[in-house]
Parts: sequence; structure tokens; C-alpha cells
Amino acid sequence: MLDAKKLYQSLNLIGSLSLALTIPWIVFKVCRAICLKRNYNALLTKVVVITGASSGLGEALAHEFYKQGCQVVLCARRRQELERVRSDLLQTHPTVPTLPPIINPLDLSDINALPGHVEKILSITGKIDILINNGGVSHRGTVVSTQPDVDIKIMLVNYFGAVALTKAVLPSMIKNKSGHVVFVSSIQGLVALPERSAYCASKHALQAFSDSLRAEVASYNVSVTVVSPGYVKTELSINALTSSGSPHGKMDANTESGYLPEYVATEIGRAVVQKKKEIVICTLLPKIAIFLRKYLPSVYFSVMVKRAKKAQLH
Ligand SMILES: NC(=O)c1ccc[n+]([C@@H]2O[C@H](COP(=O)([O-])OP(=O)(O)OC[C@H]3O[C@@H](n4cnc5c(N)ncnc54)[C@H](OP(=O)(O)O)[C@@H]3O)[C@@H](O)[C@H]2O)c1
Ligand SMILES: *[C@@H]1O[C@H](CO)[C@@H](O)[C@H](O)[C@H]1NC(C)=O
Ligand SMILES: *[C@@H]1O[C@H](CO)[C@@H](O)[C@H](O)[C@H]1NC(C)=O
Repeated sequence: MLDAKKLYQSLNLIGSLSLALTIPWIVFKVCRAICLKRNYNALLTKVVVITGASSGLGEALAHEFYKQGCQVVLCARRRQELERVRSDLLQTHPTVPTLPPIINPLDLSDINALPGHVEKILSITGKIDILINNGGVSHRGTVVSTQPDVDIKIMLVNYFGAVALTKAVLPSMIKNKSGHVVFVSSIQGLVALPERSAYCASKHALQAFSDSLRAEVASYNVSVTVVSPGYVKTELSINALTSSGSPHGKMDANTESGYLPEYVATEIGRAVVQKKKEIVICTLLPKIAIFLRKYLPSVYFSVMVKRAKKAQLH
């Protein structure tokens, strides 16, 4: 009997304790949901320029921001694909109360032409609230076999293109004391893999550039977000450049089994409304890799040696 009473008392205690924890937790969740909703409302009528909007993650980002009521400006080289994305947007979200999407074909490696593109966009929309530097190209090949031209090309698109476009957009944001620049980096911007030297270097460079920029523009109320996703199921591995500069042409298993681009785009949308400085979207294994590289680098290096050896066997 006594035992039963004790049991009853302790159950009671656990019950009140968990209630005491649950109620604040629920309140917190509800408040956060309300805040998030309010933040999403702030996206209405914002002009969002997205590079690499003709496929993969950029296309999913176009849907995400258009759906939230933004006017999206779609940039990439292939005009036809941009037109396809524009008509998909109009058909998929017929009730969205916003201005129709705009397409602006451009080549990120044509650095000197980028300010002209920004001027043209500004002359149509009057402003750019959010710039998403997403366009990019990957790499397959060893350092020794890769033509320097390929290194330059990848750096030009992934790094200098994003840098030049950002420089062209920033003056209007600084003038208006508001704006947001997003850089789509990668887990490979945090840890480098063998046979991806050019890609990893370009993404590491973006991370450093973003951290410098964030500090400089904070006083102008301009936000900077760096996004580091793990594998995403897109055309990235098919379009990756090999050591000779030709397209890899293959869907890699890791890419095939990666996140859906729609999922990553939703995460990026949330990071933008919450003005997060950086987000890492990945599974446990890459998280361990990032930890090892930072705190146990020798372990990371030896794992990478094994990985390089395995790749050489193929
Ligand atoms: N897929 C992944 O596993 C993964 C993981 C982490 C990060 N990311 C990053 O996500 C971003 C988007 O890639 P994705 O995965 O969606 O691959 P994707 O399907 O190959 O898309 C790449 C986009 O970049 C554009 N692009 C390439 N070269 C360009 C150039 N010179 N000028 C303008 N646009 C150019 C392409 O459009 P055009 O060909 O029409 O120019 C395309 O829209 C990249 O920055 C990539 O590094 C991808
Ligand atoms: C100026 O900033 C406000 C937010 O503070 C934004 O809503 C508006 O679109 C921006 N206008 C221009 C011209 O950049
Ligand atoms: C900063 O920018 C946001 C929009 O990005 C705007 O809502 C806010 O009013 C701006 N704050 C100041 C102090 O200008």
C-alpha cells in the first residue's frame, strides 16, 4: 500500500513537472509560429533576384519565393529554361497576388556585363530587396589532371560571378538602408573532398567573402546569409566540369539520393525571413566531418586519404 502511495506521489510530481515544462514550450512554439508568419508576410512584394534559376535548387527557390508573394527575377544562361520556369510559376501558383516573374538571361562568368544586368533589372523593378547567389558549377578531377582553365572557369562562375553581382547590387541596398544577400555555398565550402579541388576552393572562398561582407554592411541594415547544403538531387553532377572542361554527364549516386531541392528551398526561405547568418543543411555524416576537420584534423585528413585512394581505384 505504502509503495503504491509513493508511486502515486512520484507520478504526480513527474506529471506536474512535465506540465511546467510543456506549457512554456507550447507558448514558445506558438509565439515562434506567429513571428514566422509575420516575417513571411514581410516578403510580400519584395523583389528577389535568383541566379541559377533555370534548374535544380534555383528553380525550387523561385517557386518558394514566388509562392510567398515576392516578385522573382530569374537569371541563368539558358533563356528557354528560364521561360519554362516562368510559365511553371504562373501555372503552379495561379492565386499568388504578386507581380509576374521576370527573366533576365545572363552568364555569371561575363563579369564585366553584370553591372549592366543589374541596372536593367533596377530599371524594371525599381529595387532589389533580396539577391540569392545560387548559380554554380561543380568539378570532377584530380588537381594534377585538371587544366588551369577549368580551375579559372569554376572560380569565375562560383566565386567572382557572385562577388561581382553582389557589388553591383549593394549600392542600391545601402542607399535604402535595407537588403539581404544570400550565398549558396555547400558543405564542401566547410570541408574539402578529393577530386573536387576547384569546387571546394570556390565555395570556401564564398564563405570567407560572406563573413567579411556581413560585418561591413551590418550598419546599413543589409543582411548576409550563407547556406551550406549537403547533397541535393539536381543536375549538379551531370553539369560538373571534368579535368578537361567537358561535362561529367553522370548523375552521381550521392546527388541522386540527396535532399529534394524543394526541401532545401523551404529551409533557405525560412533562414531569410529569420535573417539567419548561416545555415548548414545536412545529415549526421557531414556534421561529423565538419567537427573532425575543426577539432581532430588529423583524423579528417586520414579519412580523406582513404577516400582519394578509393576514387583512384575507379
Ligand atoms: N546539388 C548539390 O548536391 C549541391 C550541394 C550543395 C550546394 N549546391 C549548390 O547549389 C547551387 C545550385 O546548383 P544545383 O545543385 O541546383 O545544380 P544545377 O541543377 O546544375 O543548377 C546550376 C544552375 O547554375 C546555373 N549556371 C551554371 N553556370 C552558369 C553561368 N556561367 N552563368 C549563369 N548561371 C550559371 C545553371 O543555369 P544555366 O546552365 O542555364 O546557366 C543552373 O541554373 C550551386 O551553387 C551548387 O554549388 C548544390
Ligand atoms: C527600401 O526598404 C524597404 C524596407 O525597409 C523595402 O520595403 C523597400 O522595398 C525598399 N525600397 C527600395 C527602393 O529599395
Ligand atoms: C531594415 O530592413 C528591414 C527590411 O529588410 C526593414 O523592415 C527595417 O525597417 C529596416 N530597419 C531600419 C532601421 O532601417
